[in-house]
Amino acid sequence: MNFEWTKEELAMQKKAREFAEKRLAPGVVARDEAGRFPMELYREFGRATGAYGLPYPKEYGGLGGTYMEYVLAVEELSRVDASFGISYSVNTSLYGGSIMNSSASDEIKRKYLAPITYGEQIGSFGLTEHTAGSDAAGQTTRAERDGRGYRINGRKCFNTNGPVAAFTVIYAMTEPQLKTKGMAAFVVEKGTPGFSVGTLENKMGIRCAQVSDMVLDNVWVPEENMIAEPGQGFSLAMKTLDGGRIGVAAQGLGIAKGAFEIARIYMIQREQFGKPIAKQQYLAFQMAELQTKIQQAELMVYRAAWLKDQGKPYTVAAAMAKLSATNCAMEVTQEAVQMLGGNGYMKDYQVERMMRDAKITQIYEGTNEIQKLVIAGALFR
Ligand code: CAA
Repeated sequence: MNFEWTKEELAMQKKAREFAEKRLAPGVVARDEAGRFPMELYREFGRATGAYGLPYPKEYGGLGGTYMEYVLAVEELSRVDASFGISYSVNTSLYGGSIMNSSASDEIKRKYLAPITYGEQIGSFGLTEHTAGSDAAGQTTRAERDGRGYRINGRKCFNTNGPVAAFTVIYAMTEPQLKTKGMAAFVVEKGTPGFSVGTLENKMGIRCAQVSDMVLDNVWVPEENMIAEPGQGFSLAMKTLDGGRIGVAAQGLGIAKGAFEIARIYMIQREQFGKPIAKQQYLAFQMAELQTKIQQAELMVYRAAWLKDQGKPYTVAAAMAKLSATNCAMEVTQEAVQMLGGNGYMKDYQVERMMRDAKITQIYEGTNEIQKLVIAGALFR
């Protein structure tokens, strides 16, 4: 085992940390209140680093880096602004991952991966529907053969990046009666007739990430945009979500570390009963426990990314990483609010936002109950 970072990993971690502290931190409270996606900052980070195409080969316009570098970048950005972290993660691991994991031609891979690397365009992922959440194969969006392409009808929901995306991967049923064996996947471009942004969600947390329904009303796409043949769509979605879950785990880890650091500094500075509250052993012990839990989660997240980079099976490791890091984020943020007392409840101290942001990490890209299903499934297969 090697716990040393490579120089590329250290460089990406540093770039993301500096960007988060210098560029994301100053407006993060105001952006949360306004629920505004910082497109200009998204593009700025992309132009400076190419991080949005980090794990994709150079031949497709990616950076040719590792998943570990990507994970470190998501973590560092989420430490300060989890909305930014999930917008990045969905773009790279769910949208980009769907294309990269697919059987699409090299030309299609280049066409739809190259524009996302430097943030020129953003991608989104359309799987979930109002009546098909955890039961992803229960969806009703239909794709039917029409000439040299497919005609798609349906409505997706909870599409992160949907309203700002130039490209969305849409999963649709070609033979609904076949359930997991009856699904295909397509890239649909913004501006395609019949493809529109539906209701914009007003959310508890990750308020700057743009999340909406995506409506498909007789949308026609050419057959070359079909990235998973009929019958292959469900496996593509599952394989892609395995990678996405590592991204969400990294987001959770970042949130936990961000809240922990705020609490740690506060405990040194805040005096009660004539001494810093860090000197209250009860609180110091609580911090010791939280730090241990953060490091446990960290090991799971990095291990999952390492397995993926090594080309080893990582489905269960990704589910465990997501389960442990997102539960850790929830626990640490809740405790941080409590430790800061009245101040913790106030927006300027940030931890209340982090607590709101943490909650969704236990829900999206497969609820934590679904992660347990995946883990238990492997135990008793
Ligand atoms: N990789 C590749 N293939 C996989 C796979 C994986 N990780 N998991 C399953 N499959 C394949 C199986 O091998 C199987 O194929 P065969 O029949 O050929 O063996 C097929 O898929 C069906 O598998 P299951 O029988 O296990 O399928 P299921 O219907 O029981 O569902 C599930 C399993 C784990 C519950 C799955 O439906 C699931 O993960 N649900 C959660 C969906 C989810 O995560 N949604 C989040 C959407 S994204 C989001 O949150 C929005 C956002 O923008 C952030």
